[in-house]
Amino acid sequence: MGIETITRAEPRELAALDLPRVRDDFPILFQKVHGKPLVYLDNAATSQKPRAVLEALQHFYTADCSNIHRGVHLLSERATAAYEAAREKVREFINAGESREIVFVRGTTEAINLVAYTFGRQQLQPGDEILITAMEHHSNIVPWQILCETGAKLRVAPINDAGELLLDDFEKLLTGRVKLVCVAHVSNALGTVNPVRQIIRMSHSRGIPVLVDGAQAAPHMKVDVRDLDCDFYAFSGHKVYGPTGIGALYGKAALLEAMPPFHGGGDMIRSVTFEKTLYNSIPYKFEGGTPHIAGAIGLGAAIDYVSRIGMDRIAAHEHDLLTYGTQVLARISGLRLIGTARQKAGVISFILEGIHPHDAGTILDQEGIAVRTGHHCAQPVMERFSIPATTRASFALYNTREEIDALAAGIEKVKGIFA
Ligand code: ALA
Repeated sequence: MGIETITRAEPRELAALDLPRVRDDFPILFQKVHGKPLVYLDNAATSQKPRAVLEALQHFYTADCSNIHRGVHLLSERATAAYEAAREKVREFINAGESREIVFVRGTTEAINLVAYTFGRQQLQPGDEILITAMEHHSNIVPWQILCETGAKLRVAPINDAGELLLDDFEKLLTGRVKLVCVAHVSNALGTVNPVRQIIRMSHSRGIPVLVDGAQAAPHMKVDVRDLDCDFYAFSGHKVYGPTGIGALYGKAALLEAMPPFHGGGDMIRSVTFEKTLYNSIPYKFEGGTPHIAGAIGLGAAIDYVSRIGMDRIAAHEHDLLTYGTQVLARISGLRLIGTARQKAGVISFILEGIHPHDAGTILDQEGIAVRTGHHCAQPVMERFSIPATTRASFALYNTREEIDALAAGIEKVKGIFA
């Protein structure tokens, strides 16, 4: 008689984060700022690093430090293996099909510039259009403006007063002239989660490729580039609890293969003579020069860390913080939320009547509370809402409801000073 294996899918409740334990992984959180316990709510700018990432960096520099793809010696082999293992971790993290579709870059900005300077210059002719949205970060505006100096045109799909993309207007702008759509997965200034799947479907049905700026999405939700079917996806390591100066560009293999290189130099070549250079295969064709080896390894450790906790659990926790924070802040008189989309990630931008955000941020800092104030590298968003700047609280997996209470108390203090 054969052995019968029964696999039963048990309905599984998402267990809550063990917050004290999570916080314990981030040594930087246990300090005082101006004599007050640090409340770090500037995670959209950069998130803090868990011990596992700090240890991976320390290990690389103390045990394996060497250049990659170059030496036959053991240290170089170990460094190469760790760097390529990190690439595989990124692949798995965003569910790309192949690790050669992952290009290590300095961050989202460099990833978008890479696509603009290679794919953009190769594909776009004068009169062609690039379609973006009115909620883009400067990194998803300026590279396209630079590209447009060659004759292409930048078109902008509008947003409503809640900070949501007007999909009908977006669709109307998807004319035969559009050769590329570039859209933020999550707005850094408003927190809006864009319906990227739908945007991609609409664009692809007209044969238009789509680049997704995932800088503010990758730290907060499960990203699946194959399910989205995006053509390019960019994110930064330092917002996903990894080191600064490292990030990843995902590109479909066929697109990356057809694109010219970005930076010429060592490692991106197969052979060089003064007459002719043959380029390396992807992704190495785009990784000229010694890359940020330690950064990639640190990013790999960060991905291991968040994967152990689970992106779904992180998303659920941050959603709770967003809901709680929105309720608490909405009760404060004179406070106006900027960005009230139905689908939002853990970002709360606001202005206080009669108080400049920089003043609010400075007083909050005196209370130990770190927020970002300013235009958030999204000046057109500020213009859309006719404001010069906002104060922005942005959440990460280690934030707590108590920290939101501290923010609310800090805001009352700001108001008291300006009353
Ligand atoms: N783009 C980052 C932010 O939104 C730096 O703060």
